[in-house]
Amino acid sequence: MIPLKRRKVSLPVNQQNDTCKFPHVSIFILERKMGASRRAFLTRLGRSKGFLIEEIYSSSITHVVSENNSGDEVQAWLGNQTGQDTSSSVHLLDIRWFTESMDAGQPVIIQDRHILKVKPKPDGDHTAMLLKSYACQRRTPLKHHNSFLTEALEILAQNAEYNDNEGRSVAFRRAASVLKALPRRVRSMEDLRCLPCLGDHSQRVIKEILEDGSSREVESTRQSEQYQAMKALTGIFGVGVRTADRWFREGLRSPDDLIRTGQQLNRAQQAGVQYYDDLQKPVTMAEADVISDIVEKAVHSVLPGAEIQLMGGFRRGKEVGHDVDFLITHPEEGKEEGLMPKITKWLEEQGLLLYQKTTRNSYLEKTDGPARASSNMDRFERCFSIFKLQKPAVSRESNCTVSAEDAGSEASGWRAVRVDLVVSPCSQFAFATLGWTGSKLFERELRRWAGQEKHMSLSSHALYDSTQNLYLRAKTEEEIFSYLGLEFIPPSERNA
Ligand code: UTP
Ligand code: MN
Repeated sequence: MIPLKRRKVSLPVNQQNDTCKFPHVSIFILERKMGASRRAFLTRLGRSKGFLIEEIYSSSITHVVSENNSGDEVQAWLGNQTGQDTSSSVHLLDIRWFTESMDAGQPVIIQDRHILKVKPKPDGDHTAMLLKSYACQRRTPLKHHNSFLTEALEILAQNAEYNDNEGRSVAFRRAASVLKALPRRVRSMEDLRCLPCLGDHSQRVIKEILEDGSSREVESTRQSEQYQAMKALTGIFGVGVRTADRWFREGLRSPDDLIRTGQQLNRAQQAGVQYYDDLQKPVTMAEADVISDIVEKAVHSVLPGAEIQLMGGFRRGKEVGHDVDFLITHPEEGKEEGLMPKITKWLEEQGLLLYQKTTRNSYLEKTDGPARASSNMDRFERCFSIFKLQKPAVSRESNCTVSAEDAGSEASGWRAVRVDLVVSPCSQFAFATLGWTGSKLFERELRRWAGQEKHMSLSSHALYDSTQNLYLRAKTEEEIFSYLGLEFIPPSERNA
């Protein structure tokens, strides 16, 4: 468990309470190679501009600034001060970040050129693989080197979810996520020596796979009747774990069983069963592009000037997805109100919707407050829908040669695709963008980092700083990372 890090409430000598404008950025200026007088000058300058600058290095420091030192030199100095590896909790920055921030009158976004590079420590013959412990501190590419391990761990995570054991599920997902971020394939347990988030259970599974090629627990889970039935039942649009579990206990195993036994289904579940085969098929990037064009046309027809952004897995560079997610806003605050019913009406008139359910925007900063904001359920105006997507002519022609089992919906010339539309006021757009890009684990880790390490509360609507009791406004994702004291991670590297 990472200890809760609380920002110091009392300010150091010479630091006037009312002059400190950015308490979430706690700066330590390294005297080494700079000299005491220049350091004192920079400290006075910074404080006069409202920056929090500490005289003494402590665990509350978020930004270490130095001049003419290499990253390794600063790291070594910090190691001597604290006796531990501080690399995961502090930004090591060149003086340029500080001077640019002075010029800007506020902490500027940390860019690559500001960051002092630290060489991974060589360890005997091979370099140990080191990683920071929160997924939002790491870069996780889409394609990685350890899917033979991560797929196994994710089966156990999924199974834990089916058994309503969230803690266990998250533990397996975190372990898998660490392996996704590694620069090379794991060959022995020795490679895992310095890695975070690998609990005993995950390590046992990994060890067995490395030694025997597979894990008995994973294979028996994969084959189990419960796992397979829960996978089939929760795979139905509109069906969650609770409902699937109830059906499983009643002896139902598949969508066909639901039809055969005449189960009571709500409107979403009816559509889920009706379009089951289509919705099981991955949506391709090419299909997502066609849907983007349709959504753009719909939105611009009802609100010219509105902006549409492709979100979710496709924004992270995935080539296929289970649905297509869009975020819609308008540069003029308030113009977006009541937009969704107009969009769905347009789409319905064109015969493009097989199903839709719109929920209204219920977020109110004044009444929702920061406590609610930490929950991952957001309250935007949102439309869960199933689109009727015409297939390109070329694929319809080649239809005659596809196998008979595909014939059903293939022959019809269209397919069903899940589409999520979300409307955000432009003041919340950056938070909504960050929240709807994913991955789910990356989002979860961002919120955990904010709460545990920064005493802040992050949602898809806002970022609230509990230390200062105020909302931190942002126009870009970069600013949000900066408030959180995190290096910016681009969407393509949020595949945690
Ligand atoms: P998805 O479930 O669509 O996942 O949620 P994905 O990453 O696009 O992967 P696919 O679709 O399976 O290929 C996309 C993002 O939207 C957020 C999730 O946290 C995720 O990051 N989201 C989803 C919400 O914030 N709220 C929701 O109710 C649903
Ligand atoms: Mn998605």
